[in-house]
Amino acid sequence: MTQMASLAIAASTGERASGRQAWSLLWKSSRPLGVLVVAWAIAGAITPAVVVAALGLIVGRVPGAIQHGIGSASGHQLLEALVGAAAVYAFSLILDPIGSSLGIAAKARITGELQGRLLKAVSAPVGVSHLEDSAVLDRLARAEGSLTGFFPGDAPVTWVGVVASRISGVIGCVVVSVFCWWLGIVLLLMWVGVRKVMLTAVVRQATELRGETTLMRRAWYFIGVGSKVRDAKEIRVFGLADFVGGRFHSAYQDAITAGQFGLKQLHRRAAVCWLVVLAGYVLALVVIAIAARDHRIALRSLAILLPMLAVTQATGSVSYDDIGLIWAMAGLPDVDRLEQELRPVDDELAGHREPTGMPVSGVRFESVHYRYPAGTTDVLDGLDLELAAGTSTAIVGVNGAGKSTLVSLLSRLRDPTAGRITVDGLDVREFEPRSWQRAVALMPQDPVRYPVTAYDNIAFGALAHRDDRGGVEDCARLSGFAEVVDGLPAGWQTVLSRELPGGSDLSGGQWQRLALARALFATRHGARLLVLDEPTAALDVRSEAQFYGRFIEITRGLTTVVISHRFATVRRADVIFVLDGGRITERGSHDELVAAGGTYAAAYELQAARFRGPS
Ligand SMILES: Nc1ncnc2c1ncn2[C@@H]1O[C@H](COP(=O)(O)OP(=O)(O)O)[C@@H](O)[C@H]1O
Ligand SMILES: [Mg+2]
Repeated sequence: MTQMASLAIAASTGERASGRQAWSLLWKSSRPLGVLVVAWAIAGAITPAVVVAALGLIVGRVPGAIQHGIGSASGHQLLEALVGAAAVYAFSLILDPIGSSLGIAAKARITGELQGRLLKAVSAPVGVSHLEDSAVLDRLARAEGSLTGFFPGDAPVTWVGVVASRISGVIGCVVVSVFCWWLGIVLLLMWVGVRKVMLTAVVRQATELRGETTLMRRAWYFIGVGSKVRDAKEIRVFGLADFVGGRFHSAYQDAITAGQFGLKQLHRRAAVCWLVVLAGYVLALVVIAIAARDHRIALRSLAILLPMLAVTQATGSVSYDDIGLIWAMAGLPDVDRLEQELRPVDDELAGHREPTGMPVSGVRFESVHYRYPAGTTDVLDGLDLELAAGTSTAIVGVNGAGKSTLVSLLSRLRDPTAGRITVDGLDVREFEPRSWQRAVALMPQDPVRYPVTAYDNIAFGALAHRDDRGGVEDCARLSGFAEVVDGLPAGWQTVLSRELPGGSDLSGGQWQRLALARALFATRHGARLLVLDEPTAALDVRSEAQFYGRFIEITRGLTTVVISHRFATVRRADVIFVLDGGRITERGSHDELVAAGGTYAAAYELQAARFRGPS
């Protein structure tokens, strides 16, 4: 079963770029580099035969030099041949390092371009659901080549190298044909056949292994867990290192085992090919030996012909480069596919309106349903909600009620599966999606910790206005981050990452204040809708008190949504909604809801009782 499943996947991932497609990547990225690679390939194709011919020349001139002395004309000819052969041989030795350095130069360029294309492709969709799609993640891993260690950026130069090597073998066959026309052809056909037979098995094995991307991804995940500081702490405290290592090995083993089918085939084919090559070489040697016995071949020709038999082998050899090439080439169509599949489709509602200054009257959720792609039930189940412009709304609900989901719908990170969201009466999809996202200043529940300076971490809220120093400082003051800056080693210019030289890290609550400042900076520069998902969850009591002390100032003139289960935060809002079972079950001001005696009142009473202590 496992094997059948793996073959089905393998078939679907067996697609590879052609050599021409790979070559065009290099050619487009740099003509001079392309020309150099071609020159290198031509030299690589010719040199093996030339080296052998030069050796033959030496051997052919030795008898004359011995007979007439080294000072004679024959002796000089031998010396010339020796110097010539040494020069050609030395040249052939530097071709490999030249090829490596050209390969590295090409790879660096092409990888940079391909990674840029991939980043653009995964950033293209308005929402983020595709980043939870295993098929997309598999494709991404293959496109990057990170799981096999053979990168698409390797493809062009490796391909040219493999082609050049085959041509060098063909040149060997042509030289053999000069001596005996049919022998050259027999050797050529033999090698072409051997390569075809071997390559089919190698391709199969490489493709099978590659088909196991999901297993490989799981294996590499465990390596990632062990090497990230954030995860590494828990791994130590709970003593999980051996377990994680074990999981890596078993997932890796599963992936490799699934690719063993092609390997068996490879062994059988190799045995058959060995017999064929043995027969071919015996035939060639017999033909040459008979010619030598009958004095039909000069010593010099013999000295060229015998090693030339080995040169012909390059036509048929299948090397590790071929496997690397298969993997490297296979990554290229995945880049194209990701670009095509993730390109936003312009449905009739992919609008072009600009949401400048909106909402003016309000935002409404109208019978909104949302079900996660992998889900079996609707997280939001016919939700109706109105956010009146210029007011603050709080949304409360138990863990998993769907509050963060609601927020991601509001910022079009996901779209409702049914129902709609309107802004001043217009379906939110009528707005240009990116502009709408810019109009929402979102502080997500788990904000990004950008490894840049403290200043830029806030300026990222409206990057185009990065020069607005006063704005950044004011937002930091409002969010309570300003006092953190004073304690940083390089103040605003401190890089917030311990993994970078001179960097510093913040505590969870300090990061949260920073993220709030970033959202506030967005509101300074055009965003009218401020959405705060659990903004005070990591704050200490004093910081939280400061936050709601400034709440009116923070939200002035904005349409604000605050999600929190801290009643101290929530009660400041003009309207509070209780989200339960995917719908709004209660609405009102804090006092109204407490008086109504529903879920809200019960939760409030529970929290208040905790503070009062046992009575
Ligand atoms: N990316 C996701 N894919 C599938 N299910 C999800 C995803 N994110 C959240 N959920 C599920 O949706 C429900 C609501 O989650 P969420 O909106 O984060 O809740 P809240 O913010 O109210 O705590 C939960 O049951 C959660 O398991
Ligand atoms: Mg949440």
